[in-house]
Amino acid sequence: MSSWNTKTVLITGASSGIGAALAEVLARKGAQLVLGARNSAKLQAVADALPNGGAARCICVATDVSREADCRALVQAGLDRFGSLDAVINNAGISMRALFRDADLEVIRQLMETNFWGSVYCTKYALPSILERGGHVVGISSIAGYRGLPARTGYSASKFAMQGFLEALRTEHLHDGLHVLVVCPGFTNTAIRQASLTADGSAQGQSPRAEEKMMTATEVAEHTVRAMEKRQRTLVLTRQGKLTVFLNKWLPGWMDGMVYRHMAKEPDSPFGRKA
Ligand SMILES: NC(=O)c1ccc[n+]([C@@H]2O[C@H](COP(=O)([O-])OP(=O)(O)OC[C@H]3O[C@@H](n4cnc5c(N)ncnc54)[C@H](OP(=O)(O)O)[C@@H]3O)[C@@H](O)[C@H]2O)c1
Repeated sequence: MSSWNTKTVLITGASSGIGAALAEVLARKGAQLVLGARNSAKLQAVADALPNGGAARCICVATDVSREADCRALVQAGLDRFGSLDAVINNAGISMRALFRDADLEVIRQLMETNFWGSVYCTKYALPSILERGGHVVGISSIAGYRGLPARTGYSASKFAMQGFLEALRTEHLHDGLHVLVVCPGFTNTAIRQASLTADGSAQGQSPRAEEKMMTATEVAEHTVRAMEKRQRTLVLTRQGKLTVFLNKWLPGWMDGMVYRHMAKEPDSPFGRKA
């Protein structure tokens, strides 16, 4: 029996990828789950497939995290069903692939509203209960939250904003027993690149990268849950991710060129020329 048996965890973006994997890992440990995402059918399918009788200890709430009222209703549904919340995992996210000069401003706005504001809304409404329980606020950020990535200006901005928000929140509650964890996965095999927004806001539809060579969503979820158990501040994943964060800290100018060349090598790179 793990301590998760007595805990309730709210996960946004649980209909796919890392969010669905987090639900599975936590269900296996016996946690009660509050799952949110826009696609109700996919969310329900994730709930129905939960191990260890997890479906009976889980609620699914159709949620668009870019809408404050949806986030408030998601948190309230969790409180109504389970009485309290021990953790919120702000995982819902979208990415983009377009140069800033070409991108419709609505793309940048959508990125900020989902990745940043969605995290702010859910954290705001869940925080009172989490504080009472000495629980966890988790943000699934990205290496792009440490190092700006070309053709992902809105994505990097949203993740930098999320990390600043969570660092400040952690410091505000340094003596209140609140645990704040920032998770920065490296490239992970999920649907995120298919769903990435192009310059006009339409979904990219396919991944430009070799998804099968990436870390799996289950590995990210297992590392994340372990980091929550250890009450770590930050979790940076993959060898490439750790190297990027390290080199960017000490050699930021040199990294401009490295990152440019790396991203320009992607097939159909919006840079418009080969590195
Ligand atoms: N995969 C990677 O390489 C990678 C690397 C670093 C960080 N991350 C981060 O990991 C997180 C999870 O992404 P993923 O890789 O697992 O991608 P994914 O498979 O595309 O999953 C994204 C999830 O977010 C949900 N979502 C998107 N917009 C939403 C909205 N407005 N309201 C509510 N839910 C929304 C999606 O559900 P609905 O469509 O049903 O709403 C889906 O469940 C993201 O924050 C992403 O930035 C991923």
